Amino acid sequence: MIFDDLRAIQLRHGFLPKAELEGLSQRTQTPLYQIHSVASFYPHFHLVPPAKAEIRVCADMSCHLNGACELRADLERRFANSRPDDVQIRDVSCLGRCDQAPAVSINDHIFTDVTADHAERLARRAIRGEDIHEPHPAQARVECKADPYGETEKYGVVRKLVQSRAFDEVLAQLKASELRGMGGAGFPTSMKWDLVRKESNPVKYVVCNADESEPGTIKDRFIMTHLPHLLIEGMLIAGIVTGAKRGILYIRHEYHLQEEILGEEIRRCYRAGLLGKSILGTSFTFELEVFVSPGGYICGEETALIEAIEGHRAEPRNKPPFPVQAGLWQKPTVLNNVETFINVPQILARGVDWFAAQGVGGSRGLKFVGVSGHVARPGIFEVPMGTPMREVILNHAGGICGGRQLKAFAPSGPSSGYLPASMLDVRLDFKSLAEAGSMLGSGAIVACDDTTCMLDMALNAVRFYRNESCGKCVPCRVGSQKMVDLLTGWTRGAGSPADFRLLDELSEAMKLASICGLGQFAHAPITSVWTHFREELEAHVLQHRCPEGVCPMRV
Ligand SMILES: Cc1cc2nc3c(=O)[nH]c(=O)nc-3n(C[C@H](O)[C@H](O)[C@H](O)COP(=O)(O)O)c2cc1C
Ligand code: SF4
Ligand code: FES
Repeated sequence: MIFDDLRAIQLRHGFLPKAELEGLSQRTQTPLYQIHSVASFYPHFHLVPPAKAEIRVCADMSCHLNGACELRADLERRFANSRPDDVQIRDVSCLGRCDQAPAVSINDHIFTDVTADHAERLARRAIRGEDIHEPHPAQARVECKADPYGETEKYGVVRKLVQSRAFDEVLAQLKASELRGMGGAGFPTSMKWDLVRKESNPVKYVVCNADESEPGTIKDRFIMTHLPHLLIEGMLIAGIVTGAKRGILYIRHEYHLQEEILGEEIRRCYRAGLLGKSILGTSFTFELEVFVSPGGYICGEETALIEAIEGHRAEPRNKPPFPVQAGLWQKPTVLNNVETFINVPQILARGVDWFAAQGVGGSRGLKFVGVSGHVARPGIFEVPMGTPMREVILNHAGGICGGRQLKAFAPSGPSSGYLPASMLDVRLDFKSLAEAGSMLGSGAIVACDDTTCMLDMALNAVRFYRNESCGKCVPCRVGSQKMVDLLTGWTRGAGSPADFRLLDELSEAMKLASICGLGQFAHAPITSVWTHFREELEAHVLQHRCPEGVCPMRV
């Protein structure tokens, strides 16, 4: 409940005054240091009064490729003579609008495809005390192959399941489908559900991970906008099959529109008797609520997300135990990604053979991918799993914009590293991308044209990890800063041959000793540049020269 209290205080004052936090501590008998440690952890909370216009320019991959640095510099010039309590301009991590870059948040309202003129006008209105609101353009319904219902009656799988109670059959079908988690790790879904089902604890939970904060990752936003019923049905099936009576849908706080859409669909389900007690007149119960994240990429890590729901700092837990045994409130918990859940009703409604036939090149199922960066038609596309990357980037996303050539692409945001254009025929599936030394991850494809400096892109990605490290473990907290310092030095002409060994040792230490995936994968962007763009890297470090003329060499 602590977040509700903190949000209420922030709504009244615009920030969290010390006296209010002391009052909250007394009222709830919670030590003040605990409240402070939570409030200071999350980017959503302000401990000091914010400026009248808080301008935050997204600095991450897709926005970086689309002029975010220049936008921020331009805004700083325009507001150079403003008072600090009127305007503050800072960078912010990915806002989940990578397909409409550059994105900017002004007083927590997000604006996309922003120019300096536009942002200045909005900020001046905020300074004058006028209300500004992010636009929510009407969303035309997009037909998706993934939707088994079309215009016919929805929730058909649940309707049958509460009558048939064929839970073993559900697990058998999921196993036969070989469905794997779509949040990044690719864990077999049937195994996760089976483990929770076998736990004897009478209290269990289902949690949906809709935190989606890795740069380039926008597919869950699309799914929640256009297929909310499939997501709710997937969670409901998980609850009924595993014996969990409560579900929590954890959504990032920048997804206001999706929060509304899901809230409306959940209310509709309660009215129709699909959620709540005695589902459709049977003995099943499943209560579902939305939990809005107080912010931060680390909240997407499953145990950090659980800590956040419990009202703590979102610091990942040591594993084991895994959430299937001791998850939310230490109870067995099914925790899956949005896209994983929506695959379940598809498979159960249409059968395993249908699912297997959707993929190409030996893969199964459909895949939602976000494509952003230097492409002509950035957006979210539904493609067969196994589609060659060439088709996704050059056909679906319209190829590289401005008549330029593709130089590199990240198959899934910073954690997948960068692959060169020569690997464009790699297929979009777990196995092919792993064999290519990358990963399917969350399907966040970011394309870079031939003017891009790959060291600059690696530094951009490593900076993201440094900014988002929760700080719990030393290898990541200190290592990510050291890596940023080293790479920044290279962009400024301060590299030396010994640095390569240092980078190697640092990467190895972070990989082996970090608690969670954030620290373990922070080296991926620069390791991939070392592997595929070695000459370009050596030009920076050994010759103090940026071949693309992007880095601010000062020698
Ligand atoms: C730093 C970090 C951030 C993550 N962010 C997300 C996220 O936003 N969404 C997500 O589904 N999984 C995310 N994951 C993976 C989750 O920890 C977890 O594996 C996943 O939600 C499990 O669901 P799945 O089996 O359906 O993929 C993240 C992992 C790490 C290490
Ligand atoms: S690896 Fe980084 S993000 Fe993960 S627990 Fe350690 S400090 Fe936190
Ligand atoms: S919104 Fe800027 S990188 Fe995602």
